Amino acid sequence: MSNRIDVLHGVNLDQLERRSAEVYGGGGLRELEVTVGHYAGELGLQATFWQTNHEGEYCESLHLAHERADGLILNPGAWTHYSYAIRDALEVSGLPAVEVHISDVMNRDDWRAKSVIRDLCIGTVAGKGVAGYRDALELLKAEFEGK
Ligand code: DQA
Repeated sequence: MSNRIDVLHGVNLDQLERRSAEVYGGGGLRELEVTVGHYAGELGLQATFWQTNHEGEYCESLHLAHERADGLILNPGAWTHYSYAIRDALEVSGLPAVEVHISDVMNRDDWRAKSVIRDLCIGTVAGKGVAGYRDALELLKAEFEGK
């Protein structure tokens, strides 16, 4: 069965512990990845984590994602709201993807409510902090199981 998930973090997510604790929870990316790795294990999935601050690198990672993963969890950070390059690269990947945001993007600045990748994803989870990644893993697992 398909079980390999690539979790791709975009711009500024490497600085998570330095961003507003009120909005992002105060923890760091490494801590988040350990927790999400455990969630994946509990669900019988294997999660691999990657982060970049370079948009082209994010696109290139999507180009090759089909060689190493069965599904994707994407948190492209601010790129979510305007990067048609990432949108096109996601389409190229051909993989089922879930969009995740730690914060409640629908109820922050107006510009954060827009996502240029949302309609390519099987689901979006926002505003649930680290727990949102568990929801995303569950959505992908259900997709793999054909539910
Ligand atoms: C974010 C939300 C984006 O609006 C923001 O630019 C980020 C993080 C989130 O996880 O809540 O960098 O994707």
